[in-house]
Amino acid sequence: MPLRLGNTAPNFTANTTVGEIDFHKYLGDSWGVLFSHPADFTPVCTTELAEVAKLQGEFAKRNTKTLAYSCDSVEDHIKWSKDIESYAADSGCDAKVTFPIIEGTDRKVAELYGMVDEMDETNKNKAGMPMTVRSVFFIAPNKQIKCIITYPASTGRNFNEVLRIIDSLQMAPAQGLATPVNWQKGDKACVLPFVKTADAEAKFGKDNIEHRFSYLRLTKPLEE
Ligand code: BEZ
Repeated sequence: MPLRLGNTAPNFTANTTVGEIDFHKYLGDSWGVLFSHPADFTPVCTTELAEVAKLQGEFAKRNTKTLAYSCDSVEDHIKWSKDIESYAADSGCDAKVTFPIIEGTDRKVAELYGMVDEMDETNKNKAGMPMTVRSVFFIAPNKQIKCIITYPASTGRNFNEVLRIIDSLQMAPAQGLATPVNWQKGDKACVLPFVKTADAEAKFGKDNIEHRFSYLRLTKPLEE
C-alpha cells in the first residue's frame, strides 16, 4: 500500500554522509523533510541540493531537519557534495552540505517510501534500473506524514514552496485555519468551513474576520 497522509513515517536505519542513523531518533522532536532525487552527479539534482544547503538556516528556524536520498553510495554522495558546495558558492553563498544524504544502494528506503516510479519510462538509469523520482515527505514531530509531493525527474522542485508548506502545516491545523492560494507566513488564512462564525469571532476577534461568502471567511492568524 502506498504511504498516505496520516500514516506513521516508516522508521529505518541507514548509513549516511553524517554516519549511521536511526531515522526516528535522528528527527527527535523536530519536523522532518525526507526528499529523494534521481541520482548523484546530475544537473538538476545538484541545483536542488545546493538550494537545500543554502536554506539550512530557514529550515532550522522552523525546527525542521532535512534528509536527502538517492540509490547511490555514501562514497558518491560525499564526492558529489563538493560539487554541490561549489555550485552554491557560485551564488556567493558559503553553504555546506551539513544535512545527511542517505545511502541507497540497497534501495531499502526507496521501497519503504515508494520513491521509485516504475511507470515513468524516462526514469531509468544507465543500467536500466528505475531511479527515485523527486519525492518529498513532510513529517511532524509525532512522526505522522503531513504532506507528500512528487515531481518527475525533469522538473526541479521549488524549496521556497517546501518552506511555505512547512509554515502552513505548523500554523493552520493548530489554529483551526486553512491557508489559501499563494499564502505566505503573515497573510490572512481561511476559517475552516465547519467552524461557526460565532466561534471564529470569539477566537480571532469579531473585527478581525473578513466575510466574503458564508463559507469564505478570512482572518489574521493568532500570534504564534
Ligand atoms: C537531473 O537531475 O538533471 C536529472 C536526473 C535524472 C533524469 C533527468 C534529470
